[in-house]
Amino acid sequence: MNTYSRIAGTGSYLPERVITNADLEEMVDTSDEWIRSRSGIRERRIAAEDEFTCDLAERAALSAIESAGTTPGDIDLIIVATTTPDLVFPSTACLLQERLGVAGAPAFDVQAVCAGFLFAIDVADKFIRTGSATRALVIGAETFSRIVDWTDRRVCVLFGDGAGAVVLEADERPGILSTHLHSDGRYNDLLCVPVGVSRNFDKIKVGEAFATMDGGEVFRWAVTAMSDIIDETLVANSMDRTQIDWLVPHQANIRIINAVGKRARIPGEKVIVTVDRHGNTSAASVPLALDEGVRDGRIRQGDHVLIEGFGGGFTWGSALIRM
Ligand code: ACO
Repeated sequence: MNTYSRIAGTGSYLPERVITNADLEEMVDTSDEWIRSRSGIRERRIAAEDEFTCDLAERAALSAIESAGTTPGDIDLIIVATTTPDLVFPSTACLLQERLGVAGAPAFDVQAVCAGFLFAIDVADKFIRTGSATRALVIGAETFSRIVDWTDRRVCVLFGDGAGAVVLEADERPGILSTHLHSDGRYNDLLCVPVGVSRNFDKIKVGEAFATMDGGEVFRWAVTAMSDIIDETLVANSMDRTQIDWLVPHQANIRIINAVGKRARIPGEKVIVTVDRHGNTSAASVPLALDEGVRDGRIRQGDHVLIEGFGGGFTWGSALIRM
């Protein structure tokens, strides 16, 4: 008998503080009209000064564990996708494990920026299929606001903080039908934080570790990669696009989402959109949108849901899920 992984529960958490486009007008030379027309974003949530990625991850994790009807003690794998870990080490997953009051099972972070949740789901699915885990907690959590230069209008208007989580359980019925991952490191400099621990550490010491991007190139790549991977996913499952009940794309920009939907010929009413209220929460964006769709009743048991992400690296990935 084959073992598959299946989503048993979803959860999410957004920090309380809301930054509207009007607030940003006070901070940089921008306008609500520019931000909405170029990105579709109206507002985003920003973590409090004493609130860290692990705090957001913990709230999302507990909500997913509750919705799965399980307990932290039953989790035997924790994977956190994040670009903004609390510390250089230990991993945010290990910090979270301590918060959840459990020990012993493997806990680690994956880093694939805005595609991170897709990479984490892929890894967790393989752990479960091979019998190495039976109940995995998979989280995307970010305090991206910490690596945003709040004086750079080209970048600061686009991002926000948040966390989303799923519990994946072993099941004889397939839930995750397929996963697809890609990277192309040739484009690493088009979207990056060009400082780190081993390189340019002096900039970190003076608080200058900020995201930079070539917005136009990122836009073009994101549209092509995220629409091509829909085709790849459908072909791998011998499915037609009309069989997709919901598309849950990475939430970077409404124009990217609309262009992907158009190229993939998936109608707008089948696409879950949160970017207007969340901005781009990087690895958290897909599980946040998934949780919203599940909790408001749009996504139902048995639905086919295609989730996909694209981010720095470049990295991109998808998963086809039967809920
Ligand atoms: N407010 C007002 N003006 C601005 C702002 C702002 N916040 N930001 C930039 N501008 C100006 C620029 O200075 C430039 O002015 P210039 O022509 O005088 O030099 C002009 O606006 C650029 O305008 P457009 O070319 O019309 O901008 P565009 O339509 O390309 O939109 C944007 C820019 C929103 C960044 C778009 O390229 C984009 O969304 N790219 C994808 C970037 C992205 O999503 N990155 C996130 C990480 S990757 C991911 O998650 C997929």
